[in-house]
Amino acid sequence: MSAGTGLLDIHLTEDDAAAALRDDVRTGLTAPFKHLPPKWFYDARGSALFEDITQLPEYYPTRTERALLAESVAAIAEASGADTLVELGSGSSEKTRLLLDAFSRAGTLRRYVPQDVSAPALRAAMDALAVDYPGLELHGVVGDFTSHLDRLPRGERRMVAFLGGTIGNLRPHERRVFLDELRAVLEPGEQLLLGTGLVIDEPTLVAAYDDSAGVTAEFNRNVLRVLNRELDADFDVEAFEHVALWDPVDEWIEMRLRASRAMTVHVRELDLVAEFAAGEEMRTEISAKFHVAGVRQMLQASAFAPVQTWTDPEERFALTLATAVDGDVLA
Ligand code: AVJ
Repeated sequence: MSAGTGLLDIHLTEDDAAAALRDDVRTGLTAPFKHLPPKWFYDARGSALFEDITQLPEYYPTRTERALLAESVAAIAEASGADTLVELGSGSSEKTRLLLDAFSRAGTLRRYVPQDVSAPALRAAMDALAVDYPGLELHGVVGDFTSHLDRLPRGERRMVAFLGGTIGNLRPHERRVFLDELRAVLEPGEQLLLGTGLVIDEPTLVAAYDDSAGVTAEFNRNVLRVLNRELDADFDVEAFEHVALWDPVDEWIEMRLRASRAMTVHVRELDLVAEFAAGEEMRTEISAKFHVAGVRQMLQASAFAPVQTWTDPEERFALTLATAVDGDVLA
């Protein structure tokens, strides 16, 4: 536990994760329209596949957000005065370096608090950061951003970064609950930096989630490998086809796995048998896209006052800085 650098709080033990997985799988595989939550993609292999996705020519979000950050970090750091940077779903903390560099130039930042569901990913990210930012206090939090917000360490003045468009993986009601809960743990004046994918033309959107090299397909099917390993299930992984479609009403990309033939799947750890009809589709992820005005409304509804929004020239992605305000100011 003492290997590596910096403090690591574990709020999500392996037992918690195992129980949550069992619940999610039981609920999802017994529903009339089968579904699994996207967080179970991210075992070591899934996290590596996601890193590969971010390098694909079709997957524009990561590089677009990085460019937006590069152009806005100086202004953000100067205006912010934050002493603590919290990053939700930090993963490899790769884009965060842009923020950390700008904050070290501005001279106010004391501490970085990366939060992620994966302890190994967090440990690795913290070890790398400790080398490059020797003066920075590191305090990792292993937890789920939808349920462990109350455990985030307090600061004099925090900025919470939630990047990558990951808020789009939540359904509208879940997003509202998440933002309300985040607002509730912040003091007025503390800040949120939110990355969101924007609604653009359908072919570009779909290609980003259905790349020609098939990496996203492997990432999608990886959830079945996770279930096979963790719950002693017997999914024939290769018998499921990757589906990515744009839902123009909900304005989200939906990823699904389509059974190429009828199958009976046993999830032995749950004593569960799931029947798949030939062609049946199971939802594995939604990735909602937004309009700039919609992002601002969503923030205001949870008592975050938008300060500034940055978008790329093609308006594919937005970075919005907002400040926590008293709820009744906006009511
Ligand atoms: C990292 C969750 C934002 O929704 O675009 C990438 C995950 N899924 N390709 C996204 C993902 C398929 C990604 N997020």
